[in-house]
Amino acid sequence: MAIKILIANPDLSLATKIADFLNNLGYEVDTSISGKDAQMMMYNQKYFAIILDLSVKDHPGHQVLKFVRQAHPSVKVILTMPDEKTMGESGLEKNILQKQGVCDFFVGEPSLKDLQNAIEGHRDYRELIKDKDHETRDGVSAETEMSFDDEGFIQIAIDEFISVKAVQFDVFVKLSTGKYIKILHAGDTFSIDRIEKYKNEKKVQYLYFLKEDRSKFIRMQNYITEKVLDSKSVTLKTKVNLVKGLSEIYVDALFEEGLKPLVIEQGKTLCNNVYEIVHQKTDIRKMLKYFSNFSTSLNTHCYLVTFFSCMIVKQFEWDSKTTHEILGMAAILHDIGCTKLTEDIREMSPLKMNEEQLKRYKEHCEVGVAILDLCPSIPLMVKQLVLQHHERINGEGFPNGLKYERILELAQVLGLADEFVRHMVDNQISPPEALKKVLFDPNCFKKYNGLILERFLKVFTNPN
Ligand SMILES: [Fe+2]
Ligand SMILES: [Fe+2]
Repeated sequence: MAIKILIANPDLSLATKIADFLNNLGYEVDTSISGKDAQMMMYNQKYFAIILDLSVKDHPGHQVLKFVRQAHPSVKVILTMPDEKTMGESGLEKNILQKQGVCDFFVGEPSLKDLQNAIEGHRDYRELIKDKDHETRDGVSAETEMSFDDEGFIQIAIDEFISVKAVQFDVFVKLSTGKYIKILHAGDTFSIDRIEKYKNEKKVQYLYFLKEDRSKFIRMQNYITEKVLDSKSVTLKTKVNLVKGLSEIYVDALFEEGLKPLVIEQGKTLCNNVYEIVHQKTDIRKMLKYFSNFSTSLNTHCYLVTFFSCMIVKQFEWDSKTTHEILGMAAILHDIGCTKLTEDIREMSPLKMNEEQLKRYKEHCEVGVAILDLCPSIPLMVKQLVLQHHERINGEGFPNGLKYERILELAQVLGLADEFVRHMVDNQISPPEALKKVLFDPNCFKKYNGLILERFLKVFTNPN
């Protein structure tokens, strides 16, 4: 049975255009220009999602939204509106749309691709796996050789690739520049044999998938990670690697695609997964062994800072899931302002920068907050942490040279994790060695609050 989608939009030609596009993707689509009729259709049919325009006729869009939330809470709602004014007139506010069950919203005519992402990105993988008619075929398609632009691909280590039963996107092996073999097709039954063949017989180290499938990858990996975190048969190393691979590709998506509601939602799931992994009843010291051979890229940096910030905060009595969600989000986003720096500055250590370069670099906290300000669903606390992550209690930090208690405690945790990760990656040393570097800095106790340093040390000596 095909998946059903309802489009409620007063602009019939736009509704038809979207419907044709979704029909071609295999969805069954109904359209309505009237809010009243849309409600009636929802009463009679079971829809997976509704693409609801706020300016729909007969019945106000915000009332239809209220009806959907109350009568059909499991239906995904994607909201569109011709302009910002319509939103104001409806009495709805952007920053509470998610609370009202809206997965995504678009001002102006949405691109068809964005709509597809909104629908598929929010689809529950459990449903995709069950939905055999639509998404899966039995067996595996033949391997096909193809030419592609290398820029369009994302690489993942073959050891870190795990799939759900039905492969959610095309998977490739690279032959040479621009030449790939599609070894698994979207919809195929996942074939571990085929992956093993490339790994063991052909010594392939990496698999590739298309950038346009990144959202599906993140969704799938988040789902798999949630599933395996509790499993005793999956090794800790695999779990740590899963979260690492996922985080890095997630940060790439964040930096390249910007702060779309879908991307933010995926970030929350990712932070939850990091929370779960640091709260596993395993020996944390054992886990730290898997932290080696880091890439110096910004996405690896963001992942490591997220992981170690969460580790530190776990040692506090007031540690909670909500704190982790705020801190995790801030840690993933803390250097988003660096994406606006020129490449030469972005890749240079601040110790080697000249005065002008350092001035530019130091702007990244405020630039980061300006980027986050464009996204109403980012909590204020996350923005404050991003702003303060380079402040130090002796006042030598930036951008505002704040001192002592004027710096949020979580911002100090983030700042400490940031410096620690820098030592670890710049010098390619293990976590305990990086710890020594931080603690042996004569200014260490002047820069950081003693209690935070003590809890940081606890991560390595007597972790909770
Ligand atoms: Fe920074
Ligand atoms: Fe940083």
